Amino acid sequence: MDFSATLSLLLALCLMAWLLLAPWRKKTQGHLPPGPTPLPFLGNMLQVEVKELIKSLQKLSETYGPIYTFHLGSRPCVVLAGYQVLKEALIEKAEEFSGRGDFPAVQMWSNGNATRPGIVYGTGERWREALRLGTADSMSLLPGRPGKVRLKELPGCGRLSPPRRGVKSKPFDPTFFLSCAGSNIICTLVFGERFEYTDRKFLTLLNLINSNWKLMSSTWGQLLFVFPKIMRHVPGPHRQIYQNYLKLAAFVGEQLKTHQETLDPNNLRDFIDCFLLKIQQEKNNPATHFNEETMSKTTVNLFFAGTETVSSTLRYGLLILLRHPEIEEKLHEEIDRVIGPHRSPCMEDRSRMPYTDAVIHEIQRFADIVPMGVPHTVTRDIQFRGYTLPKGINIIPLLCTAQADPSQFKHPGRFDPTHFLDQDGRFRRNDAFMAFSAGSATGWGESLAIMELFIFLTSILQHFTLRALVAPAEIDISPESSGLGSIPRPYQLRLLAR
Ligand code: HEM
Repeated sequence: MDFSATLSLLLALCLMAWLLLAPWRKKTQGHLPPGPTPLPFLGNMLQVEVKELIKSLQKLSETYGPIYTFHLGSRPCVVLAGYQVLKEALIEKAEEFSGRGDFPAVQMWSNGNATRPGIVYGTGERWREALRLGTADSMSLLPGRPGKVRLKELPGCGRLSPPRRGVKSKPFDPTFFLSCAGSNIICTLVFGERFEYTDRKFLTLLNLINSNWKLMSSTWGQLLFVFPKIMRHVPGPHRQIYQNYLKLAAFVGEQLKTHQETLDPNNLRDFIDCFLLKIQQEKNNPATHFNEETMSKTTVNLFFAGTETVSSTLRYGLLILLRHPEIEEKLHEEIDRVIGPHRSPCMEDRSRMPYTDAVIHEIQRFADIVPMGVPHTVTRDIQFRGYTLPKGINIIPLLCTAQADPSQFKHPGRFDPTHFLDQDGRFRRNDAFMAFSAGSATGWGESLAIMELFIFLTSILQHFTLRALVAPAEIDISPESSGLGSIPRPYQLRLLAR
């Protein structure tokens, strides 16, 4: 039999199996919202561009409305698009929608051969407890206490000490420095130490995180997301994601060993110490979530969740300011008025700096670093908008659609800080701002990210003016891809000391 005959036979068999399984599928899938008709095994993948998955999903919502079913391969997923439906799900039914959906690249690592995921990809009460440990205990270990953190007390910030007024830096791409600074914050929190930017181990750590971020946004990464069972066995660059996780785990393992040898329960230094103590306290509890394996996975996941997100946002933010010097000018004015040139910014300044707060929110809205959020699931069978969503069904919250919802933002496609300002120039919250998702999903990471964005941005602008190498009007601020992490193209700038 020739190849095309074999293929036709296979397709015919698939179609038959699919039709035969239809009644069973109906039973297990509840009464799902309508969506494009899926093909057996391929689902709706021929109706979208894998490379532009998010844009394609957005486009489908124009035909099928704010809630529709989309088949990622053979897995049905319910897609939520637009502020209204996201609010109803993530905020008004936060508890029901708080389950973790399939995120194959992370699960491949987090679940590994064990059943205990790290906190970035866990679910249930034990996981919440680990999250609380992460936020409460180790945040309080940050030098200067939360809310009182000053830039010079944060790792990497000594590098921002101002040179003489008028001195111009050479043109440089800020990516590397921002990644180092952001990553060093997590290092302080987790390992209790910062690294020099020339430290080989630290650079390897950064490379591994960056490489995984890129791989997950690539077409290979998207294919892994859609066809996890098949792609795990298909050779290709996506398999490097798992290898990179293993190398990161080895790095964490070394730190863990040193911490175990020097642990002093009366003097906890960092996240690892907090976790180690919890392991000791719960050693007689057979159901405990706290063990070395969870700790290693959680730590690696924290690095992954907390490094590229903040540095990409900042990198995007600086590019936007190069494009809009008039906005940078207003930021300088507010910084000079509230903080002045002689002391370092601190988080208490934020409430007195509505314009800066609005610009940072708008950078996050516009940069849209996690446009698709992470997949959720419902924790029990629920009725939602007239449909029955069965426990365990994958929910894809298209956060980008809330952040660009024309009913909530007057110029969704434009960078405009007045989206977050009222008529009197006061900061105005907008519930459609979902950079960190919404409802019970936010919290961990959010407070640290906000602190970093505020302190880094105000400190840079307190001492420097940004200078583009081309005319501002020539700067393209559109994102390079619409995948995980909408990253702007590499660019260069100069810093002019103020
Ligand atoms: C600009 C920076 C950041 C953005 C835009 C961002 C965005 C997000 C989003 C959208 C989620 C998914 C929430 C959900 O739907 O469940 C998430 C989860 C998470 N982020 Fe961030 N994040 C940022 C920075 C950070 C930082 C600095 C950390 C800390 C190390 C962090 C740690 C986490 C963790 C642990 C989760 C999983 C939480 C959970 O499972 O509930 N993030 N982040």
